[in-house]
Amino acid sequence: MHFALCAMPFALNSLFSLLMVRITSKLPQTGTSIFTVMSALAAQVGAINLSQGFPDYDCSPELIALVSKAMNDGHNQYAPMAGLMSLREQISIKTEKLYAAHYDPDTEITVTAGGTQAIFTAICAAIQPNDEVIVFEPAYDSYAPAIKVMGGVVKSLELSPPDYRIPWDMVRRLVTNRTRMIILNSPHNPTATVLQQQDIDELIAIVNDQDILILSDEVYEHLVFDGQEHKSMAKYEVLRQRSFIAASFGKLFHNTGWKMGYCMAPAALMQEFRKVHQFLVFSVNSPMQHAIAEYLKDESTYLSLPAFFQQKRDHFRAALAQTRFELLPCAGTYFQSVKYSKISDEKDTDIALRLTKDFGVASIPTSAFYNRGTDHQVLRFCFAKKQETLDRAIDKLLKI
Ligand SMILES: Cc1ncc(COP(=O)(O)O)c(C=O)c1O
Repeated sequence: MHFALCAMPFALNSLFSLLMVRITSKLPQTGTSIFTVMSALAAQVGAINLSQGFPDYDCSPELIALVSKAMNDGHNQYAPMAGLMSLREQISIKTEKLYAAHYDPDTEITVTAGGTQAIFTAICAAIQPNDEVIVFEPAYDSYAPAIKVMGGVVKSLELSPPDYRIPWDMVRRLVTNRTRMIILNSPHNPTATVLQQQDIDELIAIVNDQDILILSDEVYEHLVFDGQEHKSMAKYEVLRQRSFIAASFGKLFHNTGWKMGYCMAPAALMQEFRKVHQFLVFSVNSPMQHAIAEYLKDESTYLSLPAFFQQKRDHFRAALAQTRFELLPCAGTYFQSVKYSKISDEKDTDIALRLTKDFGVASIPTSAFYNRGTDHQVLRFCFAKKQETLDRAIDKLLKI
């Protein structure tokens, strides 16, 4: 009896507090991402998954052996907060060699848990409530939520197929005295465009002498085709001074699941970046840092990437040209977009689901990359796949 009397109010109390606990969403519009949805559907119906951006082949056995060695050598405790110095030094050497820009490994480079953490951390460090951030859409899906969580305002500018060029006169009109940051992504996911010299000139003209930061998402820096060069922000002093550059080893070394990347920025920006980084993750996977530091010493590990992916692009495009899809240009990344207006007038989300279920090939509807869901009837396929996977997918797509 005594027990029951005590227990009753406790049970009621917990029930009451369960009902009372509230959380006000900072991202009320955010649901499960289209990447998760399409990959899950592809697995469920046994479709070939050309939706999410990851390879279906393994990364180099040599790199895996280097990780094993690092673990066996006892590198299993926390790495330094900013990353292993030997890895930061290799990143600095690589950047200097490629872009003739010096980043001090001590103060200007931080190793992150993938490009996504670099992006989130930079936004978190730099954006105050009501700051405006210019984002070009279609856009990688992590930018806008990060801005909103910080109380910033997303100023989107929509780009259109087939060439998705940035209308710089519109950018100029979008800039206000609240503009704090412009986010760029080249090579670009999902449109596969790359910034040209004219874009760089326009950008420099806009930000020069302005208090505007740049977040440059360069995770596909080595996936540039047809002999074009990657226009890194590191190469241009006016841009370099104000840029956080986000990079990803997962994209380069075919191991997206390792979630390894880095951020480079001038010391004053990096100092603020690290204040957030140290409380977000403190430090990043230690044995993999040892392994990548060693692996990067051989420059062919990244210099061979354009040819490797261009061969896949050319193979996939030549085969896709036999289907009823209309190919859009592909200058970089491992994505190929197509228009399907000759096949159907369905919404892109509907046809993407139908192709997965009825024809066995999963893609991403490009409307998912627009805040307003703008539908240009474009689907994105990922061609970072074995040739046999691409060939099997094409056999199916030919039936449409
Ligand atoms: C444009 C872009 N930025 C960043 C990332 C994230 O890179 P990571 O997997 O290294 O976090 C991706 C991954 O798909 C991407 O496409």
